[in-house]
Amino acid sequence: MKPRVIVTRRWPAKVETLLTERFDAVLNADDVPMTPADFAAAFRAYDAILPTVSDRLPASVFPSEGCRTRLLANFGVGFSHIDTAAARDRGIAVTNTPGVLTDCTADLAMSLLLLVARRAGEGERQLRAGAWRGWRPTHLIGTRVSGKKLGIIGMGRIGKAMASRAHFGFGMDVVFYNRSKVDDDETRLMSAQQLPSIEAVLAESDFVSLHCPGGAENKHLIGEARLSIMKPTAFLINTARGDVVDETALVRALDKGIIAGAGLDVYAEEPAVPRGLVERENVVLLPHLGSATAETREAMGMKALDNLIAFFDGKPAPDRVV
Ligand code: DGY
Repeated sequence: MKPRVIVTRRWPAKVETLLTERFDAVLNADDVPMTPADFAAAFRAYDAILPTVSDRLPASVFPSEGCRTRLLANFGVGFSHIDTAAARDRGIAVTNTPGVLTDCTADLAMSLLLLVARRAGEGERQLRAGAWRGWRPTHLIGTRVSGKKLGIIGMGRIGKAMASRAHFGFGMDVVFYNRSKVDDDETRLMSAQQLPSIEAVLAESDFVSLHCPGGAENKHLIGEARLSIMKPTAFLINTARGDVVDETALVRALDKGIIAGAGLDVYAEEPAVPRGLVERENVVLLPHLGSATAETREAMGMKALDNLIAFFDGKPAPDRVV
């Protein structure tokens, strides 16, 4: 008998077709998010649940008994939305989809950096509103990007890809903070300098880009105290997870001119975005688009499928995190 699996949201069509060929798969044609009660029921009815980064799986949705689910094959690299301790306690494996979204997420981080520095969002809004009065020497003056200093917090795959774009594409100097020592050819080639603390990176960077995981350990990593260390001319870019930044403190820092602006793709309570951010001109806001290209989303689906197939064939799942 084929394993019974449930996909929590719409997936790329090609992956959905392969899934239904190989598994007894229930798809979500209407793309309606599952409720906590739906998840609690799914744990009792399916061999695998295929969630994604916008689902919430706290300990309370995991059943204390009668759990049929053996695998959570997550569509996405980040898995801080899953209570991994609850999964581990019930012997449920968890897999993710690393590697395939590195370039597209770094591309989007670089886009945010450019958009906010060059006031492109403001300019587009102005033009579409019919408020553009023509070229003039003092119109919408932004900040030069080329040759400036980029600070990376979290020098993993995506952090390095962002650093490489900034250094080789825009002649930027790169400094970074990473918990463990990073000493590899890629980092050496771009002369990126590892600094001993987050504070040191914040103090000297013109742009700070966050590339660390979300979840309890990094919640509000960037709060009032750390924002106040940044230069008043500096910009904060976040394509990691919303809860890494204390959004209330960020709004306050923007209001007081403690930093110059922010480019954000992720929010603590998605899809809700704080009013204080929406109302500001010096903030570029995107709806969690980091990995949103046809190529990457299909590759993410194929990776989740590979994990699923390996697991139910009794082989080691390639991207097992629990
Ligand atoms: C992920 O995979 O964690 C990303 O946030 C999705 O874009």
